[in-house]
Amino acid sequence: MAILKIARMGHPVLLARARPVDDPTAPEIRRLATDMAETLADAGGVGLAAPQVHESLRLILVSAPPERDEDGAAGVPVTVLVNPVLEPLGAEMVTGWEGCLSIPGLRGAVPRHRRVRFSGLDLDGAPIAGEAEGFHARVLQHEVDHLDGILYPMRMSDLGLLGFEEELMRRLRAGREGDER
Ligand code: NI
Repeated sequence: MAILKIARMGHPVLLARARPVDDPTAPEIRRLATDMAETLADAGGVGLAAPQVHESLRLILVSAPPERDEDGAAGVPVTVLVNPVLEPLGAEMVTGWEGCLSIPGLRGAVPRHRRVRFSGLDLDGAPIAGEAEGFHARVLQHEVDHLDGILYPMRMSDLGLLGFEEELMRRLRAGREGDER
């Protein structure tokens, strides 16, 4: 196990299209997934894509802690998805705040599909498929975008809603106090 170095925005690996994993059962893929899980836990994130640790491969980790889901969903533990494919379910879009371990300190409001169907393989090479909504669907879309060289600011419709987390929190707090007056 090892904590891996996370690539930050500006590094070309984050803009490349990652290649499919040929053999999800290969020991080096299992080691990569294990190291990524440790890296994710160390960084306190909810998802991580292999290109973020300088491996241009189609492998992601996603989770959806219940406290992060405004829909009150039950929560999804950290799950590895190899060669993931997403398909939007319906046309409904939701705008929500996102951060990224490759863009530390910043947050942005990003429109995403509310519901998606996902499929892929696990580390035994067995197919995984399901439907996701809300925060889980958001994390899946964010991580699969990393495999196609897309970072969340590239999905934003209003760059006025991109900022440093500290400033945004201050603005939110001020807004809330204003409401109480
Ligand atoms: Ni990210």
